[in-house]
Amino acid sequence: MVNSAPALEAPAVRAAGLVKMYPRSEGDVYALDHVTLAIPRGSSTVITGPSGSGKSTLLFLIAGLARPSEGHVTVLGQNLAGMNDDELADMRRSHIGFVFQNYHLIPTLTVCENVMLPLTPARLDALKVRAKALHCIEQVGLQKRINHLPGELSGGEQQRVALARALMNNPELILADEPTGNLDPESADTILSLLLDLGRSDCRTVILTSHNRDVAGRCEHQIRMEAGRLVP
Ligand SMILES: Nc1ncnc2c1ncn2[C@@H]1O[C@H](COP(=O)(O)OP(=O)(O)O)[C@@H](O)[C@H]1O
Ligand SMILES: [Mg+2]
Repeated sequence: MVNSAPALEAPAVRAAGLVKMYPRSEGDVYALDHVTLAIPRGSSTVITGPSGSGKSTLLFLIAGLARPSEGHVTVLGQNLAGMNDDELADMRRSHIGFVFQNYHLIPTLTVCENVMLPLTPARLDALKVRAKALHCIEQVGLQKRINHLPGELSGGEQQRVALARALMNNPELILADEPTGNLDPESADTILSLLLDLGRSDCRTVILTSHNRDVAGRCEHQIRMEAGRLVP
C-alpha cells in the first residue's frame, strides 16, 4: 500500500461504538449494541445474520437514514454525526446508491422515468438525464423494457431497475438491504452478479445485507451479526 494515496487507504465506512436503542415500555430494544467496524474502499462486504439481528439498522445508519443513539459513523471520510439532515441528504445524493428489498419503484412511472428520478430534482438537462438513465438501464440489461411499468416486470427485473436507479449518481458506495430477499434463486444470482460486477468494474464499495449464508461466499468480506452485535 506504499504507493496508494492516503485518501484511498481510509476505509469507506468506519463505525465506532454504534448503539441504536428503541425505548419500549416492556424493555428497551437494542437493535445495535456497540458495533465497531471498518469496511475497506473498493471492496464487497456482506452483512449476514438472522432476522432481527440488526443488519438493516446498521445499513440505515451507514446511509444516514437513521441516527445512532450512541457512537458514530464515518462514511467516505465524513463523520455523519456532524451533519444536519440536509447535509446527510446531500451526501446520499452525491455519493451513495441504495437498493431496497422491495425495490421501491413508483408504479405509475415507466422504467426509464423511475431510473431518472434521482437526477430529476437536480435541474439538469432532461435529455442528458435520460441519456444517463438509458446507459444505467443498459448496464443492467433492461434496454428492451424502458417504457414498461414496474407491474409489467418480474421481481428480478424490478430489482434490476432499482439497481439502475442506484447507479444514476455514479455512487462510490452502494448499499443494498436484502436485495435478493424477495427473489427466486436464479434472479437472486443475476442481481448479486450485477451488483458485484458493477462494484468491481468501477472500484465502488458495495455493502449488502442477506439472511442467506450462500451469499457470503460471493463477497470479499463477511460480517456476521447476532442480537445487535458482531460475531466472529
Ligand atoms: N422502530 C423500532 N422500534 C422498536 N424496535 C425496532 C424498531 N426497528 C427495529 N427494531 C428492532 O431492532 C432489531 C433489529 O432490526 P433490523 O435491523 O430490522 O434487523 P434485521 O435487518 O437483521 O432483520 C429487531 O429486534 C427489531 O424488532
Ligand atoms: Mg432487515
